[in-house]
This record gives sequence, C-alpha cells and structure tokens, in this order.
Amino acid sequence: MKSIEWRENGVRILDQTRLPGEVRYRLLSSVEEVAEAIKRLEVRGAPLIGVTAAYGIALAAVKHTGDRESLKNELIRSSEILVNTRPTAVNLRWAVERMMQVYHASSHLELDAIRERLVAEARRMEEEDLHQNMRIGELGADLLPEDARVLTICNAGALATCGHGTALGLVRSAFSRGRVKKVWACETRPVLQGSRLTVWELAEDEIPVTLITDNMAGYVMRSGQVDVVVTGADRIAANGDTANKIGTYGLAVLAHHHRIPFIVAAPFSSIDLSIPDGEKIPIEFRDPDEVRKVGGLLITLPEAEVLNPAFDVTPGELITAIVTERGVARPPYLSSLANLNKKGREESYEL
Ligand code: MRU
Repeated sequence: MKSIEWRENGVRILDQTRLPGEVRYRLLSSVEEVAEAIKRLEVRGAPLIGVTAAYGIALAAVKHTGDRESLKNELIRSSEILVNTRPTAVNLRWAVERMMQVYHASSHLELDAIRERLVAEARRMEEEDLHQNMRIGELGADLLPEDARVLTICNAGALATCGHGTALGLVRSAFSRGRVKKVWACETRPVLQGSRLTVWELAEDEIPVTLITDNMAGYVMRSGQVDVVVTGADRIAANGDTANKIGTYGLAVLAHHHRIPFIVAAPFSSIDLSIPDGEKIPIEFRDPDEVRKVGGLLITLPEAEVLNPAFDVTPGELITAIVTERGVARPPYLSSLANLNKKGREESYEL
C-alpha cells in the first residue's frame, strides 16, 4: 500500500475518502487536481499533504508548455493554489517553500533540467519522510512501557505519511519489539479517520486494535485501560503548543487528570518556530455538512447551526514528550525544540 507515488504523467494517490470500503488509486494530472484532492481529504495527514504539494509543484513544471519566464509565473501561481488548500498543517507551506528554493537555485538551467530537479526534490522528500518516520518509531518505542495499551486519535499512520507513520509509526516499531499489547482507536468525528483509516491500517498489520467513539476515552482511562496516549501533530509552536485533530486537546486534559503520559510524534517539518505559541496557529473550519451527516446520512436538521473546527491546540504543558527524527524533546519546549533545531542545522552542515 503506497499513499502516494510519482508517475510519468501525474501523481498517483490512494483516495482515502473511499477507505475502508474500497482501495482505489487516482492519477492527478494537474496542480488544480492536486489541490482539490488535498481539500477533499483524498490525501490527508500533515506529512503527506506536504509531499503531495511538493509533487504538485513538480507536476506544474512538467506540464508547463511555455518558456522559462512563464514557468516562474506558473510555479508562483501553483504555490498559491496549494498553500491555500488547508491552513493548519505547516508541512504544506514548508514543502512548497522548499520546492521553490530548488526552483530558484536552478532557474538559470534549461527547462528540462529544471523539471528534473523539481521531480527529484519531491521524490527526495517522499523518501526522507519514510526514513524520518522509521527514526521517530525507533526513538519513540523506547518511551512506551512493556505491554503498552496505547490510545490514539485520527490517523497519523502510513496513510498520513509516505510510510510507517508518526504516531502509528511509533506504535508499529514498539509492536515489532513486543512492547504493544493493544491500541485504542478513537473514531474521530466528524470525518472518522480513526474508524475508517487507523482501524484498517492496524488490522492490515495485525496489530490488535479496539475502536471507541470519541466520548468513551474518559471511560477507558478512568477504568485503568490506557497506559499512554500517542498522537500526531499538524503544527507545533516554539513553546510546544500542538495543533492536531479536533479532540486531541480533550484527550490531553483527560490524560493529565489520570496521570497518563501524553506523547506527540511528528517530523521536524511540523514544527513552526516562527510561531511563539498555539494562539497564532491558524485553525481550519470545514463544511458544516461534515457534522450534519454521517456516511452521507443526515443526522440533524438540514439547516442546523454547526461549528466544525478540524483541529484544536493542546498546550505544551500537557505534553510529556515530543518525538521527532532529530530526538525527543521534553519540557520546557522553548529550549528543547530550539536545541533540536540547532542540532539539525549542525547535522546538515556536516553533510
Ligand atoms: O484532517 P486530517 O485528516 O488531515 O488531520 C490529520 C491529523 O490531525 C494528524 O494527526 C496529523 O496530520 C499528523 S499525520 C502524521
């Protein structure tokens, strides 16, 4: 199962809106189609959104038929379309900026060479994502107790990334070391990433998983059936405040009350050191019909007033550890995240 793949004439994605009923791949052949697939959640999860957008830029360059000067305008236009699809996951902007840097560094070359470099960069980002997740898994697995019963929300797995996953990557690595007894998957209303995607993905790997509705989390924690909560992230501010799927904040408050460790697993590209705290993280509000309907079936009045934030922010003080490919950050995050950032810069100088 590959969530994304570059093809000669487009980007092939696994359409996640169809899971678990149907495993259907789609070929996206223009930057507009890529942007639409991101908006519609056919591809989703912060790291995968980033890589998809990178391929979107590569695709815009490959499909462009004009001269070198008009390519620049086309890439700027494509960047804007892509960056405006979803506001919360910072990986999207990070990936588009990285692609544009590669473009600017190669804009003096022949058109074909520019295209090749852009495709190669997007491919590199896909590969890096997988390696980073394996590393997050290795580092994070050490943090779990023996026979851990792990509670998670949404889907921060192979489907949300280019393989292995972040929160579920940690679970996968720990499971292969015999450290995970079971996973509690919160259903994740309204889009049901937990029941549709996490349950499917873990079942494929034969990792024991039990589905609960979101409002059952307090029950399983209070009855002593959860050892640790592990989630992904869409954007982490400099002080550790973390935006993730709506419902994550409630889980962190519950975990704190029950003295259960709360771990966030994310690549460094999800960390936005330009934002001091969670107040500044833009939250995406989605179509009210996502709440009014379940599986296309109306469950309230058609015109019922609805609030539908897709993400919430968990204060850093409720987070026990943030696991990244560069290492594990512990509170206070202002200094531990800054240190990991410095470490990353030093490592890239060594290369
Ligand atoms: O709206 P989604 O499905 O894109 O939200 C995804 C999440 O909230 C994930 O937890 C996060 O992006 C991390 S995915 C590795």
